[in-house]
Amino acid sequence: MVRHILVITLTCLLMIGQPAAEQGINQAMRQIEEAIHLTPDIYNGREVYRICAVCHMPEGWGTEDGYYPQIAGQHSTVIIKQLADILARNRDTPTMFPFTILENLQPQEFADVAAYLAGQPMTRDNGLGPGTDLEHGKRLYEENCIDCHGKNGEGTKKDYMPLIQGQHYNYLVRQFEWIRTGKRRNADEKMVEQIQGFTDRNISAIMDYTSRLKPPSGRLAAPGWQNPDFPNFFRGESPK
Ligand code: HEC
Ligand code: HEC
Repeated sequence: MVRHILVITLTCLLMIGQPAAEQGINQAMRQIEEAIHLTPDIYNGREVYRICAVCHMPEGWGTEDGYYPQIAGQHSTVIIKQLADILARNRDTPTMFPFTILENLQPQEFADVAAYLAGQPMTRDNGLGPGTDLEHGKRLYEENCIDCHGKNGEGTKKDYMPLIQGQHYNYLVRQFEWIRTGKRRNADEKMVEQIQGFTDRNISAIMDYTSRLKPPSGRLAAPGWQNPDFPNFFRGESPK
């Protein structure tokens, strides 16, 4: 009995002492684990996506200026992990966070919306960099990024490795900076270490090259395509 009380007291103390960051990581890990083993309902994913379309646009292409990332065509595992990390505050996105809370998203909905998005075609017109230093960018990409993100920036579903091909240049630059400086806290430690020494020129060149890595033609939307799931969507400026 005494031992029992001791164990309970110690557990409570440990929980109080546990840093918030660690709790966030544990929460996210539990939700990710649950979500990837659920059977997704794509129809419900489309319903969940209604709220996301306001910012990420009905096509899931985000905006060319890179304020909103393209999330169409991303691996479902990556979408699930990013949603869980954003909810657990392991990754800051002040504009998106309140919506995820408001909707009280659960692992089943992560799985549903992720499956819906992973199957959507990608944009042909993503935001690109200046195009002036591409040889340098290619060399750096091949030396530093291929092992994890793949030759064509395709990532891998199994390892939660983001697909980065055809992503908006400004978004890539911002994420890279945030990963490097630790502002984005959910990143891969090995990547953080590897990219410490990158100069501004290197970052611009490498991301310019990455933004021009094209998804396979079968994954791209036909020219002029609009998502028929959202026929009456107002396609003006997204809120900022
Ligand atoms: C109010 C605007 C807003 C809404 C609504 C919103 N997002 Fe986002 N989302 C953002 C912004 C801004 C970012 C990029 C944050 C950053 O720069 O780190 C983002 C990032 C993401 C990412 C990470 C992308 C990556 O490549 O790592 C995913 C996945 C995502 N959103 C999915 C969703 C889903 C699914 C919904 C709906 C449930 C949603 N978002 C609703 C604004 C929004
Ligand atoms: C050791 C493996 C590894 C290496 C090497 C690596 N990355 Fe990453 N990278 C990752 C992982 C894992 C993530 C996702 C982290 C997370 O879960 O948020 C990531 C995330 C990113 C993101 C954010 C993607 C998004 O959608 O938000 C960008 C951009 C990126 N990496 C670019 C690069 C570039 C460019 C290089 C080469 C200079 C590189 N990475 C090298 C593992 C790696």
